[in-house]
Amino acid sequence: MLDLKNKSACLFGLPDSGKSTLANFIVTKYGRAAFVYDTLNEYPESPYDSYTPKDRNSVPELEGVVRAIMAGRRYRLLLIDEANRFCPSKPNPLPQAIADLNDYRAHYEMSTIYIARRPVQLNQDLTELANYLILFHLDGKNDRQYLNDISAGLGDIAATLKPFHFAVYHKGQGTQVYNPVKAIYTTAKIIKAAIT
Ligand SMILES: Nc1ncnc2c1ncn2[C@@H]1O[C@H](COP(=O)(O)OP(=O)(O)OP(=O)(O)O)[C@@H](O)[C@H]1O
Ligand SMILES: [Mg+2]
Repeated sequence: MLDLKNKSACLFGLPDSGKSTLANFIVTKYGRAAFVYDTLNEYPESPYDSYTPKDRNSVPELEGVVRAIMAGRRYRLLLIDEANRFCPSKPNPLPQAIADLNDYRAHYEMSTIYIARRPVQLNQDLTELANYLILFHLDGKNDRQYLNDISAGLGDIAATLKPFHFAVYHKGQGTQVYNPVKAIYTTAKIIKAAIT
């Protein structure tokens, strides 16, 4: 499906479209080589390492964890869920630790996955430098346009995806649509309404 070695991916889709479930499927394959910044405390504890922030909107807390991971050289994959909280779109600057990781990912021999609901909410430096864009159903006009500008027809594909189906756009290589992953990878869904 995707070869993430030293590569970066952004994963987008509307609420409840299946992002965290697919992410769990991917990181489970990495086992202890994966680290999840589990912003909303929804990933299972056992198969891989994770951290749930004390403050789910704190950029310094995220940067502290990311710097420690970069220095430790222990993990091959870093996944940040709800990344738009920490890396909102321009003109907001990327947190420096994320900018460094984005620029020197190969040096750190690390794959990265950033999850956000809508492409227009995530910092463009992450989206536009990503090797892969993984898309669940999206139908917002701005998102569709933004994706169509990245690759002709990509936003149109995202708008027609059936529930839990996803498209993988590999930069320079085209787009492929996949069937849902098994429901056993569903994460511990928490009640989001109360969370800001
Ligand atoms: N592949 C799948 N097969 C069957 N059901 C699924 C699948 N993926 C997700 N679901 C169902 O949809 C719910 C939402 O999935 P998930 O938590 O992965 O969505 P999300 O995109 O991460 O949502 P949010 O934006 O709120 O974080 C799951 O609790 C599960 O019930
Ligand atoms: Mg989720």
